[in-house]
Amino acid sequence: MCGIFGCTSSRLSVSTVIYESLKRLEYRGYDSVGLATTHNGSIYLKKDQGRIREVEENLHLSFLPGRCGIGHTRWATHGAPSKENAHPVTDCNGMLALVHNGVIENYLELKDQLQKLGHRMRSRTDSEVIAHLIEMHVKQGLPLDEAVRRTLLLLKGSYAIAAIFASDEDTIICARMESPLVIGLSPNFVCCSSDIPALPKEVEKIIVVENGEIVVIRPHTIIIKSLETGQELPLKVTLREEMTGDADIGGFTHYMLKEIHEQPQVALNVIKAPAKFVTQLAEKLVKAERVYLIGCGTSYHACIFGSHVLRFLAKIDSFPLIASEFDYCNASLDAKTVVLALSQSGETMDVLSALKRLQDLGIEVLALTNVMGSSITRLASAYLGLYAGPEIGVAATKTFTAQLLMLARVAVEASNIKGENVDYAKRIEEFLRQSPSAIKSSISSNVRRAQELSVKMSLKDHAFFLARGVNVATALEGALKLKEVSYVHAEGYPAGESKHGPIALVEEDYPCVFICPQDETYDKVIGNIMEMKARGAFIVSCIEEGDKEVKEISDFSFVLPSVEVKMLTPVLHVLPLQLLAYYTAVARGFDPDKPRNLAKSVTVP
Ligand code: G6P
Repeated sequence: MCGIFGCTSSRLSVSTVIYESLKRLEYRGYDSVGLATTHNGSIYLKKDQGRIREVEENLHLSFLPGRCGIGHTRWATHGAPSKENAHPVTDCNGMLALVHNGVIENYLELKDQLQKLGHRMRSRTDSEVIAHLIEMHVKQGLPLDEAVRRTLLLLKGSYAIAAIFASDEDTIICARMESPLVIGLSPNFVCCSSDIPALPKEVEKIIVVENGEIVVIRPHTIIIKSLETGQELPLKVTLREEMTGDADIGGFTHYMLKEIHEQPQVALNVIKAPAKFVTQLAEKLVKAERVYLIGCGTSYHACIFGSHVLRFLAKIDSFPLIASEFDYCNASLDAKTVVLALSQSGETMDVLSALKRLQDLGIEVLALTNVMGSSITRLASAYLGLYAGPEIGVAATKTFTAQLLMLARVAVEASNIKGENVDYAKRIEEFLRQSPSAIKSSISSNVRRAQELSVKMSLKDHAFFLARGVNVATALEGALKLKEVSYVHAEGYPAGESKHGPIALVEEDYPCVFICPQDETYDKVIGNIMEMKARGAFIVSCIEEGDKEVKEISDFSFVLPSVEVKMLTPVLHVLPLQLLAYYTAVARGFDPDKPRNLAKSVTVP
């Protein structure tokens, strides 16, 4: 959803710092990239469509002169990926350059007004109007920060922006409304960025910019003002948080593979996470009469799991809902309703929009996120971290596992508070303690198997992922992983529903992946396997150790350690499916870290 970065220094040339930071922001969008600096009273600007490395090879973005500059990595919303639509965008005379993350909803109206005033637009973006509006206000004689403030007051929508000016060479003016923005302070420079992991290592202190704040950055000064009043606000500087992991690729070929293999450590982090925050969340959940778990993509699949576990273990009426559908589903909302929002990034617009409306209605909102200081942590009355460390691969892997484990911890705590299912809760705790080693062996024993199957899968056009009960979440997640990184069309379905339509597609050698632990769904899933088999499907199964019956009727099996608490089988059964998706993408020659058309953090509705 676009990443923005800006940097100003009294001594360093900044284009390399910006270029390196854009590489760390590339997960936010990677269809175009650009960089602009100020030097000797002029703006220097280079941009193009394409991945950062390709554009760097052709244009040498990191060679731009100057000690102050901005950069942008794009995920197109308004205007196709092209050189013209890449950022930075400029005003009519190239006296200012601007980068933007977000969506300006009233840009057509503003564009029309600007064109009538004689402004020449060069792109089809919504962002360019911001540059021209600032130009208009500067021409009226306003100081730069006031020109930017007046401009922003005219905008409807969401933005994090950063602008540089030929007339004021060491200044960056940035601002935030909904889209994330942080300021980083280091001894050699001050910078602004869409997120914390992208900040250079030298950054020691951070200021999280709040909605409705405008920030004027110079090498030795930072001034924050209210967008609404123009009044100066106090600086809230915090030390850069210790990250629980690192954003280096290590010896792995891709981040996705590295992050899959990090899952035993993530499990350890989750079980060691401070109990008081888990209890705080559980206490709020047990007071509710109904709980909605909302999220998007992989986080929504974790919501399905979470609802099952909360219902089963703690007897809390819990329902998963897709965040972008929340507005339209007429869910019952009253003082006894609690909404638990799941979002890895904590910045997904569909989730944030739903939470804001819920807040207006006075509904209690809780959150589970991997990014401390993200927007969701400021909207929720209580939140819990995932402790998974930065996830760079666009497809979520280790954060899904962290969500499942953390939800299990919350459900255990809730069941203890309520005195419901206490024995089962104890056994879940035991599983959680064993989970780092169980996850490790599930991954290591299935790497080769996933590679083998990926050869066949890479030649297929379609696949089904089927399960019943809590593992419907696993089936949906397995299918999502495969389709998003390898572009093999995959559908996750409750297995019982497969005979009501999907089965029509099945023909000889059609891949059907069944998640089949030995729980209460077992016999019925075997029935569904037989139905598919009878129509020639190629049966892949995820089974527990010692399960001869399903192994025999399958063409290919992934074997997972046997789990006593069946409710937690998704934690292990999803692992071979992540590996399968990864190796299938690689076998088809695609980059699993940056799937086409996707972005890690979706900050548009
Ligand atoms: C994007 C990502 C998905 C992710 C979803 C929700 O679509 O590509 O991998 O699951 O957003 O993200 P969140 O940060 O809210 O969990």
